[in-house]
Amino acid sequence: STPLRLGIAGLGTVGVGVVKMVRHQAALLQNRCGREIAISAVSARTRDKDRGVNISSYAWEDDPVALATRDDVDVFVELMGGSDGPAKAATEAALAAGKDVVTANKAMLAVHGQLLAGLAEENGRALRYEAAVAGGIPVIKALGEGLAGNEITRVMGVMNGSCNYILTRMESAGLTYEEVFDEANALGYLEADPELDVGGIDAAHKLAILSALAFGTRVDFDGVEIEGIGCVKIEDIRHAADMGYRIKLLGVAQMTGRGLEQRMAPCLVPAHSPLGQLEGGTNMVVIEGSDVGQIVLRGAGAGEGPTASAVMGDICDIARGLRLPVFGQPAATLATAPRASAAVP
Ligand code: HSE
Repeated sequence: STPLRLGIAGLGTVGVGVVKMVRHQAALLQNRCGREIAISAVSARTRDKDRGVNISSYAWEDDPVALATRDDVDVFVELMGGSDGPAKAATEAALAAGKDVVTANKAMLAVHGQLLAGLAEENGRALRYEAAVAGGIPVIKALGEGLAGNEITRVMGVMNGSCNYILTRMESAGLTYEEVFDEANALGYLEADPELDVGGIDAAHKLAILSALAFGTRVDFDGVEIEGIGCVKIEDIRHAADMGYRIKLLGVAQMTGRGLEQRMAPCLVPAHSPLGQLEGGTNMVVIEGSDVGQIVLRGAGAGEGPTASAVMGDICDIARGLRLPVFGQPAATLATAPRASAAVP
């Protein structure tokens, strides 16, 4: 069998994690996928930089579009981030050139998911994005495959580890939001633009993607009502604790009689519930389905190993020939759901 050849754009935490995993899991991947997984070429902002991994055996491209369309690339692995710009241009170029695409880019899918899904399906290619939502937790596969026989009634969860870290640290150390924000930023826990995390936007991107998959609707990021965690005071956390609650940045998506409700906001959750027991940078997604009932998925929502794990799962699917509709059903059949203004949960 021929190897599946990757072109990886973006060599940050996740890209480096994928390079390492392709190497240290080579034998396992070969057995599981029935073919070798090989890296042909890579691209990043800076070529010469110590990343703790040797990339000299791979071809180099300065331009991600050139990388995405190389003859020796079967799968374009997009790990640059950003909703527009080079990530979108290279993803479109890859799909148009008949390449499969694996991406971790939540912002790009939240904003351009419908367009990219259409493009992938027109070209008969895969567009896979397990790593875009909740890092290492296989929630896209759970919703899109394992639970495909269910009508999904609700999806909710904590999908931004940085915010959960800040809220739990305020609580355990008795520090103010500003103090913990500065600490988290110094530790490199926050996105390059921290407002994406603390403003609830990053988590809302993820919720919009899950909604499309869960409810068969077009991705409607603009329909998410968003409130970040900047308003949460240490007193709020203490009062919540006195009443047996904790404050979490909770995303809730549900189909109501009035339409699709999508909300991302700091919420009170019972301290003894699974969501209430979530600590530090961890993520949790709760899915309610007509026949399965409620399931709870929990794990690392970010970081080198967990996010690379999700990317590799998608690469394996492609190596095995799996090309599912991007949002669980053909993009053209996704409904435009009316927006229901959210009730306070
Ligand atoms: N900033 C994100 C988080 C990274 O904290 O969850 C993973 O998407």
